[in-house]
Amino acid sequence: MKIIASNFKTNHTRKSTLSFCEELEKFITQKKAQNQSFAHQIALFPPQSALLDNHFKSFQIGAQNAYPTQNGSYTGEIGLEQLAEFGIQTLLIGHSERREILKESQSFCAEKFKFFSNLGFKIYYCIGESQTIKQQGNKAVLEFLESQLEGIDLNYSNLVIAYEPIWAIGSGVSATLEEITQIHTHLKQKLGKIPLLYGGSVKPQNVREILSLEGVDGVLVGSASWEISSFCQILENSL
Ligand code: PGA
Repeated sequence: MKIIASNFKTNHTRKSTLSFCEELEKFITQKKAQNQSFAHQIALFPPQSALLDNHFKSFQIGAQNAYPTQNGSYTGEIGLEQLAEFGIQTLLIGHSERREILKESQSFCAEKFKFFSNLGFKIYYCIGESQTIKQQGNKAVLEFLESQLEGIDLNYSNLVIAYEPIWAIGSGVSATLEEITQIHTHLKQKLGKIPLLYGGSVKPQNVREILSLEGVDGVLVGSASWEISSFCQILENSL
């Protein structure tokens, strides 16, 4: 069993998300009927305006972001009350685009983690280094990744970690199999049983070999998951 997650980022509308979800449900149902070993855990992170009632049987819908609050005055943000309306109990925290573009600090990521883990949410928590840190060598990379785990309770049972090197995200070129293996092997020593995903230019053509690596429990996919045909191909190639 692998975890295959799709991050829509700022793509898709409510209408297109709904048709994506319906097609996905159909595809997975068919696959399961044909192949008993199709047992992936699948999660989809649409934009906030396209959150849907979490009624699909074969995958979970999660939010790309939420503010650690029940409700309140946090203009532009959504909190627990808005997630609960859709039955959302899965949340992405710490994606590099939120850390880099929206300047979310480690302490704020940890605060979100604390709030939503106390509520039992399934948390997909992202870490990953920039090109600048990569150039400083392996030790700097590992130290940086450790720092992104500060304040995160690694004994929390509903946690998934995604290692997503920023330099590989959206570039079309994933980290090499050797690079993924090296980082995952190291992280696994710290993370123990926590599932560890790789993300960064995963696509139909490379998903099989990435998933076959020791220490890779799944993938978090951006651009190659936005077209339903491509995402289904990723699922197909993940068997
Ligand atoms: P990508 O994005 O697959 O387009 O590289 C991955 C991510 O940001 O989660």
